[in-house]
Amino acid sequence: HRLAVLVSGRGTNLQAILDAIARGSLEMQVVGIFSDQPEPYAFQRAKEQGIPTVFIDPARYADREEYDAALAREVGAFRPDTVALAGFMRILTHEFINDFDGKVVNIHPALLPAFPGLGVQKQAIDYGVHYSGCTVHFVDEEMDSGPIILQSVVPVYQSDTPETLAERILVKEHITYPAALQLLAEGRLKIQGRRVMINWEGRI
Ligand code: GRF
Repeated sequence: HRLAVLVSGRGTNLQAILDAIARGSLEMQVVGIFSDQPEPYAFQRAKEQGIPTVFIDPARYADREEYDAALAREVGAFRPDTVALAGFMRILTHEFINDFDGKVVNIHPALLPAFPGLGVQKQAIDYGVHYSGCTVHFVDEEMDSGPIILQSVVPVYQSDTPETLAERILVKEHITYPAALQLLAEGRLKIQGRRVMINWEGRI
């Protein structure tokens, strides 16, 4: 199962995916890492393992559609079965999504549909929720929308800052993302409308 990963930053989720593959708990092969940034730290992690990295420069394209068409060409050349967004800071248009229909997944550091968008740990604290977490979901053209594959929950404490909450959620992200990708690799997911039905046979 060929996996492409799109990143913009430090890439701790990418690292968790690579570690899960090395451990044998994720049966995928990362075929390429793609970014809208010239030198994200995630590229360093990829290079250590000899994985190709590709920078697609937004400044070279007139608009989002053109950019996404170029991104789709670059990613498509690696023939991925799945495209994982891992801290990729752009919203994808149909120019990209249509090429990889039902194959693009994302991780978000909140319990969707609560708190889509950015700065969500602060939003969760300010709203006063007692629980937050992370969500792995299929990607559609809306931001942080699309059928949910897995979620993990963490408590929110009175003493939390956005940073301490983000750290607690990140620990769960690093477990939940590889687990969701493994379900994909095993062909256990079926999308039914908004719902993702998981075939747990033999797992529990
Ligand atoms: C994570 O919090 C993820 O949920 C969000 O962006 C962050 C990426 O972190 N989509 P990293 O680059 O994987 O460390």
